Amino acid sequence: MVDQIKQVVINSPLDMHLHFREGRMAQTVIPLSSYSFAGGVVMPNLVPAVNNLKRLTGYIQEIKSIIDKDIFEPYMTVFFKHYSYQELEQLKPYILGVKLYPAGVTTNSEEGVAAINKAETTIKYLEELEIPLMIHGETHGFVLDREKMFLPIFEHLAQTFPRLKIIMEHITTADAVSLLNEYENIYATVTLHHLLITLDDVAGGLLRPHLFCKPIAKRPEDREALVKAAINAHPKLMFGSDSAPHPLDKKEACGCAAGIFTAPIALQALVDLFEQHNALHNLQAFVSDNAQSIYRIIPPQKSVTLERIPDKVPNMYDDVVPMFANQELSWSITQVK
Ligand code: DOR
Ligand code: ZN
Repeated sequence: MVDQIKQVVINSPLDMHLHFREGRMAQTVIPLSSYSFAGGVVMPNLVPAVNNLKRLTGYIQEIKSIIDKDIFEPYMTVFFKHYSYQELEQLKPYILGVKLYPAGVTTNSEEGVAAINKAETTIKYLEELEIPLMIHGETHGFVLDREKMFLPIFEHLAQTFPRLKIIMEHITTADAVSLLNEYENIYATVTLHHLLITLDDVAGGLLRPHLFCKPIAKRPEDREALVKAAINAHPKLMFGSDSAPHPLDKKEACGCAAGIFTAPIALQALVDLFEQHNALHNLQAFVSDNAQSIYRIIPPQKSVTLERIPDKVPNMYDDVVPMFANQELSWSITQVK
């Protein structure tokens, strides 16, 4: 019997897709990411959206004041709209990319894009300015098919804008994984929850509102394809939690908001998953190195140690219920430096 690994050290872990919100919610959730991660990509779907320089710089200030002394780089995004070339030039020094939401597909996306072909002038500017385009890739079709139905749009964009970096955000299907190998300029993030759950966990027994998210979790074979790509550290795949906090009364409601709050447990659960697949040697690439090469970023130096010490997840952070609330995780974060 081989000795069990007792300790894992991750250098500068990055969360390449997360929701910080603003105001009181931001005060609750930001420290939970800035404690254990070295950086993260901050989504712009606030009300009003983060879609101009003034709103962006105000939001950066708020985030930085909450991060305070933690070592954490907020990689910012702006909400896709019809930007002029000049506006994008001004935004470029402050952002890692522009996030495109099809109108109405998820939380606060009403101001999103109604028709991709009408967005192509701005997309051309992004290509010229070398600003990555991050996309929530879902249509308004049948819920289990929405991502698959969107894939031809990714292909069209990849062909039309060959020098544009396109990131398929939070992929959930085997088909999306396959697309990574077909187009040089297509990359992806994947969440923790889509590596762990299927639709059965959400709605197969009693309905689990805290596991309800967009895109909805899919079939076992989809989850398997995502896990395989993640544990093999597919070089075009990055970890992005899509940690999306909503207050309890918006989750345990008739009309449950989409989003799973994973920020405080993400690293611990990833270590567990990679260990179960004997893939701990690939965790560093999945949770940091791949993102560094894809976006050409150098995150702040931060070393995070996890040890095999059981830890009970709180049932709430303020009024937000995290994934694995009240359950015990096998790994704890024991040192951050
Ligand atoms: O589940 C989700 N929640 N998916 C998204 O695309 C948005 C997010 C949110 O902002 O709550
Ligand atoms: Zn998101």
